[in-house]
Amino acid sequence: MTQHPTTGFDLAETDRLLTTTKQVRQRLDLSRPVPYDELLECIELAVHAPMGVNLERNRWLIIDDPALKAAIAVRFAEVGRPYLAMNSEVRGDDRSQRVIASANFLVDHLAEVPALVLAMRLDRPPMNQSQGQVAAYYGSVLPGVWSFQLAARARGIGSAWTTFHLEHEAEIAELLGIPPTVTQVCLLAVGYFTGDTFAPAPRRPARDVTFLNTWKNPVG
Ligand SMILES: Cc1cc2nc3c(=O)[nH]c(=O)nc-3n(C[C@H](O)[C@H](O)[C@H](O)COP(=O)(O)O)c2cc1C
Repeated sequence: MTQHPTTGFDLAETDRLLTTTKQVRQRLDLSRPVPYDELLECIELAVHAPMGVNLERNRWLIIDDPALKAAIAVRFAEVGRPYLAMNSEVRGDDRSQRVIASANFLVDHLAEVPALVLAMRLDRPPMNQSQGQVAAYYGSVLPGVWSFQLAARARGIGSAWTTFHLEHEAEIAELLGIPPTVTQVCLLAVGYFTGDTFAPAPRRPARDVTFLNTWKNPVG
């Protein structure tokens, strides 16, 4: 155990959680339901994520009704299938092709995923406002989504962040009884994952993406 001397956190475990929380699609166990209390526990942790002015305007909707999931899956596929086909043509590298195959799997199986978790905000996004207001709007809800994914991962539950259905946001809102004043920001496909061999994805090292004091001074 690599315990931090002052915080007491096990850094190896913390870092493993942060680097191996992946978008899980093909390894979602479609045959095993996820109990509400497990999902509620993840939401309980997610609500601790930061939000502008500490306004608690985020809301969550758990969807496990087969008919509702099937209806969402139709809309999801209408957007996802052509988008992924187009990307598959222009992004030929192996890594992109693997992600596209995985995303296509989810398009094909969304209705069978044990639970869909919809993250929302109680108000509509700012229109014609400053970049700061737009950043604060989404920045107040998306950290919670990632916290949910981390909490879920630690409990053996995988999730995949998706946005395809948002092209049909109004229709899905009507289907789920969500008022028009509410904004959907992300639909998580959620299920227990099979195996536990998630490896960190290749990412550019911090030195290659960080600057010191001015843009002219890359750290790397
Ligand atoms: C804002 C955002 C939108 C995304 N939308 C989708 C989506 O609609 N469908 C999907 O399968 N994956 C979606 N993803 C997942 C990305 O494709 C994913 O981050 C990528 O596969 C890398 O996976 P990793 O996190 O496991 O490294 C989205 C991710 C983000 C952050």
